[in-house]
Amino acid sequence: GITPTLAVVLIGDSPASKVYVRHKKKGCEYVGLRSVSHEVSSDITEKALLSLIEDLNKDKTIHGILVQLPLPSHIDEDKVIMAIDPSKDVDGFHPMNVGNLSIGRDGFVSCTPAGIMVLLERTGIDISGKKCVIIGRSNIVGKPIGMLLTRANGTVTMCHSRTKDLQGECRQADILIAAIGKEKFITKDFIKEGAVIIDVGINRLADGTLCGDVDFDDCIEKASFVTPVPKGVGPMTITMLLKNCIKAAKNRAKS
Ligand code: GUN
Repeated sequence: GITPTLAVVLIGDSPASKVYVRHKKKGCEYVGLRSVSHEVSSDITEKALLSLIEDLNKDKTIHGILVQLPLPSHIDEDKVIMAIDPSKDVDGFHPMNVGNLSIGRDGFVSCTPAGIMVLLERTGIDISGKKCVIIGRSNIVGKPIGMLLTRANGTVTMCHSRTKDLQGECRQADILIAAIGKEKFITKDFIKEGAVIIDVGINRLADGTLCGDVDFDDCIEKASFVTPVPKGVGPMTITMLLKNCIKAAKNRAKS
């Protein structure tokens, strides 16, 4: 008798954020979850946004809260993330959930890394003992996927803008996770024969089409697997969000 309900907060009118939020709401509808939207102007004050979050925290009909990032520059992202009740933090961004992940306790895991793990598991890719190279150290993707791969007994290298020999690091990877934000950056010269390539990039080209951080056509023959963009990691991110919402509703019902 409970319909898991997601509150989506969208601030401003960034075209990319609007598209992501639309996909998330469509996902809810598809699986029978309820979503409620709070679309507010980009000139909302930080205080008003924190007050909206407080209302959603208190609202017993809401199980998950998602504030679409990035936020306008006058709003402190950290304060907003900290304001969300960790038991409703279906994005897994609150330090309580990040901390739980880091020590292997139950909690909400950031959706893109969680989706990547399901992709690997369902494809039958064994992570244990494999060399996993991650490019990008963001809080949303790089750091949590590093923790998940470590937990699955992978040997993890985290690369970033200051990495000395990026190509050399990447060429050793059995599993390469690209979360860079540069279109078609990873070519076959960056990969080892038979590597598994996960492309987290979403870059919009001048002609309006989307492409990833990986040059798919260049890599597909040398790699054993490459995730496409679009329709690769993106739908998995949304699926994990829905899963987290259901988990939040179940947790509440149990408490
Ligand atoms: N902006 C880019 N990715 C995400 C995400 O996974 N969650 C939220 N809330 N904002 C984002």
